[in-house]
Amino acid sequence: MASVGSSRVPLIAGNWKMNLDHLQAIAFVQKLAWSLKDARHDFAKTEVAVFPPFTDLRSVQTLISADKLHLRFGAQDVSAHESGAYTGEISAAFLKTLDTPYVIIGHSERRTLHSESDEEVAAKVASAVKHGIVPVICVGETAEDLELHGPSAIPVAQLRAALSQAKFEREPGLTDIVVAYEPVWAIGSGQAATPEQAEQVAAQLRATLTEILGSDVADATRILYGGSVKSSNIAGFMRMPNVDGALVGGASLDIPEFASIAQFLKHVGT
Ligand code: PGA
Repeated sequence: MASVGSSRVPLIAGNWKMNLDHLQAIAFVQKLAWSLKDARHDFAKTEVAVFPPFTDLRSVQTLISADKLHLRFGAQDVSAHESGAYTGEISAAFLKTLDTPYVIIGHSERRTLHSESDEEVAAKVASAVKHGIVPVICVGETAEDLELHGPSAIPVAQLRAALSQAKFEREPGLTDIVVAYEPVWAIGSGQAATPEQAEQVAAQLRATLTEILGSDVADATRILYGGSVKSSNIAGFMRMPNVDGALVGGASLDIPEFASIAQFLKHVGT
């Protein structure tokens, strides 16, 4: 399993997408925290983070800090720009002011529904890194890509592109990024990749990180799998050496189900 023998703390991340307003978010985060507490969740062994819509972030941040919850949180997107005439956008500086630890960048829904290019994804990653926010960089192939190019060509090319503009100024071993491999055909389809498919691509992504950022960074970077993850299939993914967690969409909106995914060690049997 990924976490055994490596310094990587698994990350179970819930991408709420456009669900739950800020009032619902407060109730949800409280219940999730209670549910994990009841299950004696060990946050040092598995990190758990929620990714609510922008309008919820302040409420979620305040709740987590006031109640000293061990949950973490992130935004679902960020602007590539610093400030200015960009109606509707939210800068990395704003997210940093809210002590936002993470931001999802390049989710397939943004790439397809908002025509986000690899260059835009790279600029957003650069902005997040500049402001000390950990980017959760999403990569993944469509069913057509899979047929035309095989499993890892597109995710690897997207990762290379996503890292092309960021300036990692800190010590190489401390470069903090998360990569999420999310095959587009598996997102919201109920048809998850097999653990072996996820491992094959995750291993290629790690090799790419080694080439670009060096082996210290590659060894320390969490690579998540995303796409129809449930409590019934999480164990298979987490047994894979290069899969260090999951980016969960639909199932992250169901508290018992998401808590059960976060408790994957119970399913793995360790
Ligand atoms: P899903 O979504 O778990 O509903 O397939 C995953 C994602 O979009 O991050």
